[in-house]
Amino acid sequence: MQVAELKKEFENYYGKGDCHIYFSPGRVNLIGEHTDYNGGFVFPCALSFGTYCLIRKTNDSVIRLASLNQAKKYTLKLGELTQPLEKGNWANYVLGVIAQFIKDDLIPDCGADLLFWGNVPHGAGLSSSASLEVVTGVAINEEYNFKKDQLSIVKYSQTAEREFAGVMCGIMDQFASGMGKKDHAIYLNCDNLEYELVPIKLDGVKIVIGNTNSPHSLDEGKYNERVAECRAAVEAINPSKKIANLGELCPTEFNSLSGNIKDELIRKRARHVVTEIERTQKAVIELKKGNLSEFGQLMNGSHDSLRDDYEVTGNELDCMVDAARKIEGTIGARMTGGGFGGSTVSLVKDEYVDEFISKVGAEYLEKTGIVADFYVAQIGDGGKRIE
Ligand code: GLA
Repeated sequence: MQVAELKKEFENYYGKGDCHIYFSPGRVNLIGEHTDYNGGFVFPCALSFGTYCLIRKTNDSVIRLASLNQAKKYTLKLGELTQPLEKGNWANYVLGVIAQFIKDDLIPDCGADLLFWGNVPHGAGLSSSASLEVVTGVAINEEYNFKKDQLSIVKYSQTAEREFAGVMCGIMDQFASGMGKKDHAIYLNCDNLEYELVPIKLDGVKIVIGNTNSPHSLDEGKYNERVAECRAAVEAINPSKKIANLGELCPTEFNSLSGNIKDELIRKRARHVVTEIERTQKAVIELKKGNLSEFGQLMNGSHDSLRDDYEVTGNELDCMVDAARKIEGTIGARMTGGGFGGSTVSLVKDEYVDEFISKVGAEYLEKTGIVADFYVAQIGDGGKRIE
């Protein structure tokens, strides 16, 4: 949908007059999965698709929320913005962010009308919820002149996801949505939030996202289960070495301490985390050297570890990745995001992209009965006002 159409829609909902338009992107993570809440490294980039928020302040004392992607509309009094609605209400992502401003004594002094529209496929593991949170934060911050910096908005958005959606997520998605830069990936240390924007110059190679259309649902508990398993690994290691996060251990150190973890399942989970962090560090070094084939191998290793040790892939993602690796021009293929359905990300040589999409799509359909969608990723900027 074009901006002009969105404005028309806004006027249909709320009447004629000016409004401001904000945008915040979804993300694809190139490597570094389930490392963020362990204080490790991630390497995501912001996409060119995301969520738009059209907003106009009003003279009354209610916040009205509508979305072109959702049937349900809300009218909430200014005093009603700090508690989540019942689970499953999309407005929770918006309210969760507004509630964080209020906690910091940044209280909206008048009402506003908001209309959202997003083109990140829902449940595809491409952070539609983070893009909704971050666009809300950016819009509220600027409209009410709250003067928070972008990183604070990223943190508000992560807290919103935890408190209002119940997903004990790390900071990767909201960070990518807030801090992304066109044609760059973000090499982020999730322990101290230091980051580097690494130019993505893939001569003759495309980033192809494959949406399995097998929706993942992070609040189903599997994600939080993994978070708890990593905590259990830290607890088991602590008598021998005091650590706050698994991210503090390199694989060699982990090997010498892993005997402390008696539960084989917990040991596997922790092994994924420490090896994935090392893979991510190596991948960034290789990318900077222009060594894409090594980068691709590390992507493959990431998927295999997520499949065998972390067990978050599942039939659809494995099936798509297997099909992707059969294409001659595929440099690397892995799942991306939280897992349990969602999307894959592959590096594919330009001249093989069409073949990739048709053959991977066909094999995936044959094996799962589901039609996949493919997108050639364009890396965009983080959340901002666009009009
Ligand atoms: C989800 C979470 C992120 C991150 C990924 C897995 O997208 O929101 O914080 O943990 O899963 O890497």
